[in-house]
Amino acid sequence: MNYNKEVRNAFDDWAATYEKDVVPKLNLRGYSYDELAASILSYYNENMESVPVLELGVGTGVLGQRIKGLAPNVEIEGLDISSEMLNKAKEKGVYKSLYLGSADEYIYCGHRKFIYSAFMFHSVRNQELLLSKIADNLDEGGMFIFVDLIPNMKILSANADFNAHSVQYEHGAPAMYKTCAEMIQLVEDSPFELIELRKLGISKDYNHYLFALKKEG
Ligand SMILES: C[S@@+](CC[C@H](N)C(=O)[O-])C[C@H]1O[C@@H](n2cnc3c(N)ncnc32)[C@H](O)[C@@H]1O
Repeated sequence: MNYNKEVRNAFDDWAATYEKDVVPKLNLRGYSYDELAASILSYYNENMESVPVLELGVGTGVLGQRIKGLAPNVEIEGLDISSEMLNKAKEKGVYKSLYLGSADEYIYCGHRKFIYSAFMFHSVRNQELLLSKIADNLDEGGMFIFVDLIPNMKILSANADFNAHSVQYEHGAPAMYKTCAEMIQLVEDSPFELIELRKLGISKDYNHYLFALKKEG
């Protein structure tokens, strides 16, 4: 089976119970989806209001719902590789449009000023291509904010099988985890400038990091 098909099957399988599993897990980390939404929105400003924002890897729409709750005027479009996740997201009634596809293969139309994503990046097979496609879709100065799991090298050994984490916790999904140093290198090699990098919640074997990227002029 190819990589994206395995990812799709895993998240299709998880869609029915996803939210019940992850909302309490985030609380155990010491923060909430509302706080996650607020952190992402802290990089959003009124100059970005002219075009809808794009959320990558919407899942069941739990984050979009919180974004809309905090910023009712923000129009959100969403993309996900899993049709079962998109069905759940549609029920939330907060997305202007929802698209099915893999974020690194999707043909993005129009131009945007703000794109965000949570807990999807490690699942994307071609992360370099993803960053370049997102940059092409953003205006100069546009922002891509993403939050993802990063292996904690204080706990894990360098030769640990990082991807076993998703197989165990993400219904068998394959993954492409990178260390913090590798993530920074990936961003350095991309058309983006890293504006801010900060940890969210408490430390575990995989830490949550927020990357705030700005498209360079
Ligand atoms: C762990 S869930 C996160 C969902 C949501 N962002 C949240 O914070 O609850 C990861 C989501 O990313 C989607 N996903 C994984 N790989 C993807 C890809 N290559 N392109 C688009 N979506 C992808 C999955 O289907 C799943 O819905």
